[in-house]
Amino acid sequence: MRQNQLKRPDQIKAYLDKHVVGQEEAKKTLSVAVYNHYKRILHKDDPERGADVEKSNILLLGPTGCGKTMLVKTIAKMLGVPFYIGNATSITASGYVGDDVESLLSGLLMNCDYDVEKAKTGIVFIDEVDKIAKREAGVSVTRDVSGECVQQGLLKMVEGHRMGVQPQGGRKHPEQPLIYLDTTDILFIGSGAFVGLDGIVERRTGRDQNRIGFGNAAASRGGGNPYADVTAQDLRDFGLIPEFVGRFPVVTYVDPLDTTALENILTKPKNNLVSQYAELFREDGITLTFEPEAITAAAQLATDLGTGARGLRSIMEKAMRDVMFAAPKAAYMNGSREIVVTREMILGAHPNGPARAV
Ligand SMILES: Nc1ncnc2c1ncn2[C@@H]1O[C@H](COP(=O)(O)OP(=O)(O)OP(=O)(O)O)[C@@H](O)[C@H]1O
Ligand SMILES: [Mg+2]
Repeated sequence: MRQNQLKRPDQIKAYLDKHVVGQEEAKKTLSVAVYNHYKRILHKDDPERGADVEKSNILLLGPTGCGKTMLVKTIAKMLGVPFYIGNATSITASGYVGDDVESLLSGLLMNCDYDVEKAKTGIVFIDEVDKIAKREAGVSVTRDVSGECVQQGLLKMVEGHRMGVQPQGGRKHPEQPLIYLDTTDILFIGSGAFVGLDGIVERRTGRDQNRIGFGNAAASRGGGNPYADVTAQDLRDFGLIPEFVGRFPVVTYVDPLDTTALENILTKPKNNLVSQYAELFREDGITLTFEPEAITAAAQLATDLGTGARGLRSIMEKAMRDVMFAAPKAAYMNGSREIVVTREMILGAHPNGPARAV
């Protein structure tokens, strides 16, 4: 990362706005955190540096299919830094079946052709960190090898440590020499849906408000999204150990996507689905357009499906299949070169609602 590669927070956000719909809070928080992270690295050797700025790993909370992975992927692409998406659930405590925590680093190394210098300032996205929450205290007599132990195992790495990494990942080739990678300047972003955390927040805020006598109606910060009010204590109540929470000082969240947001996702971002279909048809010399009502119908089906923007793709694929089947022949036989996708065509492909879309 060089100075001229570093973008200001507003530039990072503007880039995100082109690709990701909504999620203002996450975009702002990520832009600032990522900017600070790389500024800190660039000014490490600055003789006038007054204080050691500590690194700020990030926790990104929120429902499935609403842009968590996409936001971070987009930032990494923009900055041109190596990026790896790992999954906390595939890691187990060392000595057990599964991957070591170091597998996250070997993934990162693999994604930059083992260029250690590049990997040193990469971004590692750890998905499903909510799934390594501690099991209920006291019920388990065995070691919690896929929960608390994994959190413990990650501590050194996310804080910053010189780690020995198996080049091919996993424990399959123990004979290979280790590659040493210092993780001090690697940005770790933990992510997960954290189902049930909203209840923890609501119980606490309800309790707090009762205590100070305001009742339960006091507005929370994030326009009613309980994730906006998450504290370190809530994360601990959820089952993250204090040391783990402490190493992810920046906490942000994505909002659930409503029908309007889903409509925008279909039509607004770069490479949106609607223009992808239009492009496919253009290659056959056919102009494809969508009625606004067709877009709304697809967005509503996706809303009902409840998997965020993920549902859009399958809903559209199913609806477009017959059109894609028939259009090339129609163009060839009778020269029809204009297709308008209607609401009826979208709904007709899903007669029983969204369940049929997948
Ligand atoms: N806010 C958004 N703007 C534009 N596209 C989006 C948005 N959210 C999701 N998408 C689309 O949906 C797909 C899935 O989103 P993403 O992988 O970011 O979900 P996620 O929040 O990481 O979900 P999960 O918790 O299941 O991993 C993306 O590849 C993208 O096409
Ligand atoms: Mg994801």
